[in-house]
Amino acid sequence: MSSPAQINSIFSDAAAVPAEFHQDELQQLDYLVDGELRHWQGPTHQVFSPVCQPSATGLARQPLGSFPLLDEAAAQQALAAAVKAYANGRGKWPTMSVAERIGCVQEFAWRMKEQRLAVVRLLMWEIGKSYQDSAKEFDRTLDYIAATIDAVKELDRISSRFVIEQGIIGQIRRAPLGVTLCMGPYNYPLNETFTTLIPALIMGNTVVLKPPRHGVLLFHPLLEAFRAAFPAGVINTVYGAGRTLTPPLMASGDIQALAFIGTSKAADALQKAHPKPHRLRLVLGLEAKNPAIVLADADLDQAVEECVAGSLSFNGQRCTAIKILFVHQQIAADFLQRLARAVNNLSCGMPWQPGVVITPLPEEGKTDYLTGLLDDAVSHGASVVNSGGGAVNATFFAPAVVYPVNEQMRLYREEQFGPVIPVIPFTDIETPIRYIADSDYGQQVSIFSRDPEQLASLIDPLVNQVCRVNLNSQCQRGPDVFPFTGRKDSAVGTLSVSDALRAFSIRTLVAAKATELNQALIGKIVRERRSNFLSTDFIL
Ligand code: G3H
Repeated sequence: MSSPAQINSIFSDAAAVPAEFHQDELQQLDYLVDGELRHWQGPTHQVFSPVCQPSATGLARQPLGSFPLLDEAAAQQALAAAVKAYANGRGKWPTMSVAERIGCVQEFAWRMKEQRLAVVRLLMWEIGKSYQDSAKEFDRTLDYIAATIDAVKELDRISSRFVIEQGIIGQIRRAPLGVTLCMGPYNYPLNETFTTLIPALIMGNTVVLKPPRHGVLLFHPLLEAFRAAFPAGVINTVYGAGRTLTPPLMASGDIQALAFIGTSKAADALQKAHPKPHRLRLVLGLEAKNPAIVLADADLDQAVEECVAGSLSFNGQRCTAIKILFVHQQIAADFLQRLARAVNNLSCGMPWQPGVVITPLPEEGKTDYLTGLLDDAVSHGASVVNSGGGAVNATFFAPAVVYPVNEQMRLYREEQFGPVIPVIPFTDIETPIRYIADSDYGQQVSIFSRDPEQLASLIDPLVNQVCRVNLNSQCQRGPDVFPFTGRKDSAVGTLSVSDALRAFSIRTLVAAKATELNQALIGKIVRERRSNFLSTDFIL
């Protein structure tokens, strides 16, 4: 697709929405603090879908409802509840046995599963994600919870024994850090939030959860599950303008871990607001501009398929998306032709349409921003090589392949986070290698070639520049057991099912000289199950 007529008629009226995807407006006024759903009576934020429908004044974003714009005092109450539940590590949750905490998370997962359709539908409407990808996000999140439970059991089993070294008996475990502020991104508002929330909780931390600007309502069906599954104050939610709510939370000094997926600028501001930044554990997923390098001997069909999926899945709104392509001059013409054809074959439309790939964009002003990037590239000598690329209709932006891109253009460095594929021709392999070395980012790279020698000569220098080198495959986060991180301005800390458990905990131990008295004391505490930490209980 991409003919002007198709783009002009991409939005349809409400009657075209299949009954199962119909979404009533949701006035979401509840927020969870200290184990109770509080009803907000202050100002609210109106939510509009990226999906537009015809109105008397032209196309208009579909209203979806509203959520509370909490003030600073309400946000501080949520923080106070998390501080109380942690109680300097003496609270019920941080001192509970791992098996009991697993029970609560399991209970939550069962309740969450019951809300699948409600959450998936809100994902579709709030951020414009296709039904297929929204369902995948939900299911992947439940799988992540199950995998986390398995990983925590394994971690606990390894720690359920004593170590005797140089006459000292020790039991070493991982303990929680304290109160964690969890903030996910709008592109994976459920999954990426939960990949920090669940490990933080299961390790015994208490949490203040702030959903992203787009993707707030979808937490509504989960509030009751949070309330019912966890002790009071273990998880608390705050809604509203991040810029006004979160710096004061950080400035309180009561937050010990910040899990944030967003821009490095916002992350830096949050970190700086903390009075004792050295006490703050950071788990950050930040910007990226992952390049693909297509060498002259690449299998072009495969390279095009992977580059299209890599750069345009969810409209290119993935931190792991391929955001710039270096293509060897020798094959550039052929590659571009295939790429333009493949891009124009993608199905564009509304999130509920089967097989749809390109959908409307949720961010205010995003199509103007992307148009600005194209205009800038054209003014510096590039063109849009696929017919209809860059056409705009309200919140919809037709995917555009831009060629040849050079360093004068904004597209060369800016993370477009949208359906634009900048392509740079090269003859010397030093060109993409230098680009990566000079880049502010260092998340991933994809290399396309059939030559083992060429691949090997690129792998060795590139693993020291980025944190994942993909061979003839798109950049991506999964599988979730693989480490996910980045260098430079792309990340702080490493996430994977097992790494996340480490990220939200610290090693701590009980040690004693192996005297007769100490052996007798430890034996009694363990035998009589007096401690949850000093214990040889083995979770099956
Ligand atoms: O936005 C970043 C996500 O973690 C990407 O995950 O590569 O599995 O789509 P994904």
